[in-house]
Amino acid sequence: MAPEPEDEIKDEKNPRPLDEDDIALLKTYGLGPYSTSIKKVEKEIKEMAKKVNDLCGIKESDTGLAAPSQWDLVSDKQMMQEEQPLQVARCTKIINPNTEDAKYVINVKQIAKFVVGLGDKVSPTDIEEGMRVGVDRNKYQIQIPLPPKIDPSVTMMTVEEKPDVTYNDVGGCKEQIEKMREVVELPMLHPEKFVKLGIDPPKGVLLYGPPGTGKTLLARAVANRTDACFIRVIGSELVQKYVGEGARMVRELFQMARSKKACIVFFDEVDAIGGARFDDGVGGDNEVQRTMLEIVNQLDGFDARGNIKVLMATNRPDTLDPALLRPGRLDRKVEFGLPDLESRTQIFKIHTRTMNCERDIRFELLARLCPNSTGADIRSVCTEAGMYAIRARRKTVTEKDFLDAVNKVIKGYQKFSATPKYMVYN
Ligand SMILES: Nc1ncnc2c1ncn2[C@@H]1O[C@H](COP(=O)(O)OP(=O)(O)OP(=O)(O)O)[C@@H](O)[C@H]1O
Ligand SMILES: [Mg+2]
Repeated sequence: MAPEPEDEIKDEKNPRPLDEDDIALLKTYGLGPYSTSIKKVEKEIKEMAKKVNDLCGIKESDTGLAAPSQWDLVSDKQMMQEEQPLQVARCTKIINPNTEDAKYVINVKQIAKFVVGLGDKVSPTDIEEGMRVGVDRNKYQIQIPLPPKIDPSVTMMTVEEKPDVTYNDVGGCKEQIEKMREVVELPMLHPEKFVKLGIDPPKGVLLYGPPGTGKTLLARAVANRTDACFIRVIGSELVQKYVGEGARMVRELFQMARSKKACIVFFDEVDAIGGARFDDGVGGDNEVQRTMLEIVNQLDGFDARGNIKVLMATNRPDTLDPALLRPGRLDRKVEFGLPDLESRTQIFKIHTRTMNCERDIRFELLARLCPNSTGADIRSVCTEAGMYAIRARRKTVTEKDFLDAVNKVIKGYQKFSATPKYMVYN
């Protein structure tokens, strides 16, 4: 029977208690479709685990902390005492090397010099003169060899995590990629080819071209591909406020690079340090120049360079010091030009790969509409097209969005474009 209007009013004052069905319904509110069955299975798993544990007779002491009555504090303490921290020393001289009774002169900073033997865990071949070693505090025996000391800010430059850019993310630039791989990958993968011919593989590459043409991008792709240690140096980072720091950083950087099996050093925006030398008329020498000269020095170095490849990227190759560019230091020069039509189409496809686009967008037409634009411009077009779609509250990007974006970015931002200016220098 339908409730009378009067009844309803009464109901609101004195609501009818929920019956069982209502409660059951309320309880399912907000639950996923399988949540009850998942909960049940989880409970069953827990019960099963408990049963297994009971049957095997696992005690608390096996899974976690033992009962305090079983603690052996004395022997724990003894163990802790045996593992004392080591002290850092420098091995300055080896007396009677390569014999049974070789002795080592170590210099512990601010304490004294000692003549000591080796610990049990170190073999005589591990220790060289001039090395840093760890010594214990009682007999000052050498316990471990230590790596050379390197400025932490240099160590920080190592790229540990591989960037997620691959060669597939670089549109066009076929020639450039080919040239880079020849220099970077071939000598590392097939060194015997160079040995057979009797030539030294090229040591360094200079990447130059207008801004936004993919120099940094390609370097990142190289870093992704290689197993070698990749060190990335921003040019301006080396120019620090203290005199002599820059040169020292370069020295330590190459020292670290040499200690690796294979290493690629990438100087981005090298024009910050590599400017041509000039006389500033004051007579004082320029800190920046000294940093650059240290790089030059390290490049053809007195020390063998090992398997180190040097990449440099710049917008202004004309400002670089000729000494830096001469063959033997940077043998290869790779120009990054503006992408042609085919490359632009490809770059469009790369940047829309992850976008939610309409089915048949004519990327070639879009590429035709962006003459003389760089990869960065095209990327910006794609982003803007996305923005148009967001503004219109659509979930997919249409061709019209792209056309609007081309108008906005390529035509509208023309006066900000530095490309023509830089084309003069390259
Ligand atoms: N060939 C290309 N293929 C795909 N994307 C590109 C390409 N060139 C440039 N881009 C896009 O443009 C962005 C900027 O490029 P990048 O950082 O490599 O420029 P750059 O050449 O290093 O410029 P700068 O000289 O100013 O440092 C990249 O993140 C990438 O998204
Ligand atoms: Mg760059």
